Formats: sequence, C-alpha cells, structure tokens
Amino acid sequence: MSQKKITKKYYQILKKKIQMFSKQYYTYDSPTISDHEFDELYKELKFIEEENPSFISSDSPTQVIGSKIRGGFKKVRHTKPMMSLNNASNIDEFNSFYEKIITEFSKKVVMYAEPKFDGLAIALTYNNGVLLSAVTRGDGNEGEDVTSNIKTIQGLPLKLLTEKTPKRLVVAAEVYSLITDFQRINETLKKSKMKKFANPRNFAAGTVRQLDPVVAFKRNLQIYIHGVIDIDSHLSLPTHSESMAYLSKIGFPTCNLNKKINDINEAINYFDDISNKRVKLPYEIDGIVYKVNSYELRDLIGYTSKAPKWSIAFKFPSQISQTKIVDVTFQVGRTGTLTPVAELEPLSIGGVNVTRATLHNLDDIRKKDIRINDYVYVKRAGDVIPEVEKVNLSKREKTTEISMPMKCPACGETIIKISNQSIYKCPNESSCKPQIVQSIGHFASRKAMNISGLGENIIITLVDSALVKNYSDLYYLTYDHLIKLDRMARTSVNNLIDSINKSKQPNFDKFIYSLGIREVGLSTARVLSQNFNTLDELMNAKREFLESIKDIGPIVADNITNFFSMSSNVKKIKKLISSGIEVNYLEHLANKLLSNRSFVVTGSFNKISRREIEEIIISNGGKVSSSISKKTEFLVCGEKPGSKLDKAKKIGTKILTEEEFFKIL
Ligand code: IVH
Repeated sequence: MSQKKITKKYYQILKKKIQMFSKQYYTYDSPTISDHEFDELYKELKFIEEENPSFISSDSPTQVIGSKIRGGFKKVRHTKPMMSLNNASNIDEFNSFYEKIITEFSKKVVMYAEPKFDGLAIALTYNNGVLLSAVTRGDGNEGEDVTSNIKTIQGLPLKLLTEKTPKRLVVAAEVYSLITDFQRINETLKKSKMKKFANPRNFAAGTVRQLDPVVAFKRNLQIYIHGVIDIDSHLSLPTHSESMAYLSKIGFPTCNLNKKINDINEAINYFDDISNKRVKLPYEIDGIVYKVNSYELRDLIGYTSKAPKWSIAFKFPSQISQTKIVDVTFQVGRTGTLTPVAELEPLSIGGVNVTRATLHNLDDIRKKDIRINDYVYVKRAGDVIPEVEKVNLSKREKTTEISMPMKCPACGETIIKISNQSIYKCPNESSCKPQIVQSIGHFASRKAMNISGLGENIIITLVDSALVKNYSDLYYLTYDHLIKLDRMARTSVNNLIDSINKSKQPNFDKFIYSLGIREVGLSTARVLSQNFNTLDELMNAKREFLESIKDIGPIVADNITNFFSMSSNVKKIKKLISSGIEVNYLEHLANKLLSNRSFVVTGSFNKISRREIEEIIISNGGKVSSSISKKTEFLVCGEKPGSKLDKAKKIGTKILTEEEFFKIL
C-alpha cells in the first residue's frame, strides 16, 4: 500500500469514486474499469478504514455491500404493530369514509393524500441518526430483518442529515422497483430460460427477501417514506404533513406528488389528477392513500384491530379489455376443489399480458352465461387473478356450453359434487399431485410454518422423487436426500435444512393454520388457539363446543371435526410431533389475556400515550372502540376524561385507572 499521507479528504474522494464505479457495474452492468482495478481501489479503501476507523461512515461501500446473509433472515418483533389500510373501491365507499369523520369528529378536516405505491412495507429504525435496522411488515407484529439488502438502496440515508438527531426514530417506508429495472432483469431471466417476475411488486419483494446484498444492489431498488411510526417527543410535529417535511429535510426520500387536501372536492380532483399521470410514472401505483393530517384528530378517530380508522386507500378502478375464450380448463386447488379457467386469446390489459382468467365456479358461469368461443370482457385489478366479467352477446356465434369434468384432470379420480354448493371436488387427497403440492406449499408459506427456500418447483421435485408424500415428511429430509436432486446445490440444501429446522417451534395459531383445514384461515386459527390450551384438546374437541365459540360457524366446526376424524390427518400430526416439532403455547396465552375484550380509552396518561395503550390492547387480542356502548367492558380512564366517563358510569362499564390496567396485564 502507498506510503502517502492519508487525509480524510482523500478517503472521501476514493469512497465517492468506488460508489460511482459500483453503480456502473452493479446497477447498469456497464463497468468503465476492469474488475482488477476495482478490487484494488476497494482494497485500498478497506485498508484506510482499518488504519483510520474514525473515517468509516455507514454509507461506505465496505459497509453497504456486505457478505451474503447466512442461514436466512432473523425474525424481529415490531415495537409498534404495522397496520394495514382499509380500502375504498368506489366513490360511495370513499364518501362514506369522509362523511363519517366530518359528522362524528370534526366539521372541517384536513387530509394528506399520497399515491399508494405498489411495493412492500418496511419499518426503518434509526438510533441517534444512524440506520439500525430494516424489518419487513411480515404479519404486522413480526417481520424479517432485511437490513443488509435495504442498505444497498441508493436513495436511503444511512445517516441522517441533522445535528439534533432524534434518539430513536422509526419510519414506515415502501420499497418498490422502477418499471424499467423490472423489465431489464426479466429480459436477463428470459435469456437464461429462468422464471420471470410477474410484476414490479413481486420483483421488489423477491429482491428484498433473497439473501445476497450484491443481487439487491444490482437490482436498483427504490424506497420512499410514508410515515412516522415512532419518534422522540421533543420534536414538535403535530401533523403528518409537518412530519413529512421534517423527514424530507433530514434526508429521507418522500414522494413529490403528496398533497394537503382541504375538502372532498380537492380529494376527488387529486384522485383524477394522479389517475391521469399514472401511466407516465416510472413506477406502479394502485390507488391514493388519504390520511387525516392532525395526530390529535387521528387519536380521537382511533383504530380497528387491523387498520386505522383515520385513513383509507382509494383504489384505482380495475382495467377491462375484450377477448375470446378459446377453451376452458380446470385447476385443482389445495383442498381438491376444481376451478374452471378460461383460456383466452392473449391480450394486454394495462400493459400486462393475460392469457387466462378465472371463471370461479359453475354457478357463476351459468349466471353470466359464459360459453366457449364467446367474446368476453376480462377484468384485471391490481395483483388479483384476472376474471371474466361478462359476455359480449352481440358478437356471439357458434359457442359450446361449459360443463364440469367427470374425472379429475390431474389424477383421474371421479369428481364429486358437494351438495347444495356449486363446488366440485377431487376426493383423492392423499395422491392427487396438485393437492399434495399445494398443501405442502401452504404448510411452508410465510404465514404458516415459514419455511423459506421451498418454492413450488422444489416441492414438485420432492414429490416426484417420492421423498415427500405430505408435509410431515419435510422434517425427515436429510442433506444426502436433497443434494441428489436436480438444481439443488450445497448452499441451497443447507439453507433449506436450516430453514426447516428453524420452523420447529411454531406458535399455536400458525401451526393450526398450516394444517390446511378447509376454511380455517389465519384469523380462525387464532381464535382456535385462544380457545384451546393444547393441540390435543383441539383435536378432541366436540362439534357442539366448536360451534359455541364466537366466530366459528357450523360449517367451519364441521370442517374441523372432519379433519381430525380422518386417520391420515392424525397420522401426519403425530409424525410432525415425533420429528421434534414443539408447538409454542405461550404467545396465545398472552393473547388470551384480552382476547375479544372490548375497551375504550379516554383522557391523558402519565407514563404512556393514549395511542400506546390502545396498541397494547390490540396487540394482546383486545378491541378498542372510540365510543362507549353497552358492549364496552372496560373504560381505561386517564386524567381529564370528559363525557365518556359519565356515560361509562351510567351504563355500568368497568372503569380502570392506568395502574389498574397495567395490573390486569
Ligand atoms: S400508510 C397505518 N401510505 O399499503 C397505515 N401505506 O394496504 C400505514 N402503502 O402496508 C400505511 N403506499 O405497504 C401508507 N402512501 C402510503 C402507501 C402505503 C403504499 C402500502 C403499505 C401498507 C399497505 C396497506
């Protein structure tokens, strides 16, 4: 290494140079220096940093382009839940959202409107102005630590541009891709005959959730910030627009289309204006998010268990085009249900190529009178599977009626009709391939056992090679089994085994969900986990008891008892348990504390804000309403409570002080 005196200035120039060369290389695939020259510069930078650790800044290429992430992403619990948004899909739904706020809370309400970016949500935490972590939304309570990949995003400050940095700052951001980057990578994938990404959002999400930061860097991800989740209170930021201006000032990328809205007319004009600009934007948006601007008013309006009541996502209407149905095929779903699919003369809807559309079920086909050879209108909305909307009867010529097949198109088994429902099913659960593959996919999916590295192609290979007959076999796979399979290299085998092992302590609700019981989604699974102490209890539950649980109807109760009465299912569960799976019942006990209890919170508190109390209630399974009714069980009451306390006393609602509330917890 040269003996010249290294100054900080020299270091910074070298750093800038390397940043430029890496962008040329990784992002644009057009390097202007050789790999060797690049390596030499990089080595010099690293050497200087070793000699002068005080020079190292978090945006240095040595810090940003780290090594591959080993053994998958770490799970992290969000300190505050990341909520989702309620949707409005037409003007009436939007009007009623607006009207409700105006009539119930404030005659004049200022909103803040932002494009709804079609990407994935991330929580970014900064400690003393330095980026500490980037965590995906996950299920809202727990996400994955994807910091190494997020750090590669060029526009994201790793260090904030302010002297008076907040001690702790958590912001919500959307990671997305430019349409051109999505197309560029898809071209490359096509050339190497690999599977392409379906849309820019999947591309961005796939990039964030893969393990090599160099790949993330090459794909040129983008980010923009859409809100503050947590910030030191000494900064006085009473409104969202002021927070956004502050965030932009200290270096965060925000969207320059955001706008303050004073009344409903301005809201509609903004919607129309952005709808017109939409096709020219370099990224995809799927609607407009309207948010009440004042934080005080937000607190008054409150939250449901999933989403704030002070915000709404007004989605752009779906796009419709016309084409011809050339054939109808039938897809076998995870539980054996057949779904008719229209095979179309290919068409482009809003820039996306469409060749197939769902026809839902036979009832729907008859209702809309859809036949083979008909010209039909096909609708595509966001990420949803395209569907056939209606027939253009004026173009009808020679058509053929659609009928359900007698035999399963996948395994040949005789199809049965579920009485009174328009559902046709292949009953061959244990050996009909699409059913097996999809039930394993469901079991391994993120919301279930969260086994990463188990995509559909690998599952098909595992099933074809007879190594796996159902999901319980996954836990008996060994390195020697997997390494023999096509396209499985050492690293992917190790990662897969690692990820299977890591999934062995599922929370009770996720375990129930992963079993794939008909109509038992995650929220029903959660309800079940709160009503049974152990898996054994659930397996032996009587139908009557299940039905007595709030939110469980007779059909779901039947599905549950049927599932556990089948010896093949009991065998699978036993096999899972003997492989070393230990169901974690602790979390659900905590959730049970406040499960389905209804609260109202009023007044101001000493230790904690009203909003934080509400969040604690929600994350422990309780419900928070904004006004007292007969259904309210508890009023958590701070200082200067106002009329809610009087009403609670009148109705007889139990009143808790701040201390009493925490004692209950
Ligand atoms: S605010 C508590 N603003 O949409 C509300 N979300 O459907 C937090 N999104 O999870 C969300 N653009 O990933 C907000 N301008 C925007 C957004 C936005 C996109 C995403 C976000 C959220 C999802 C909800």
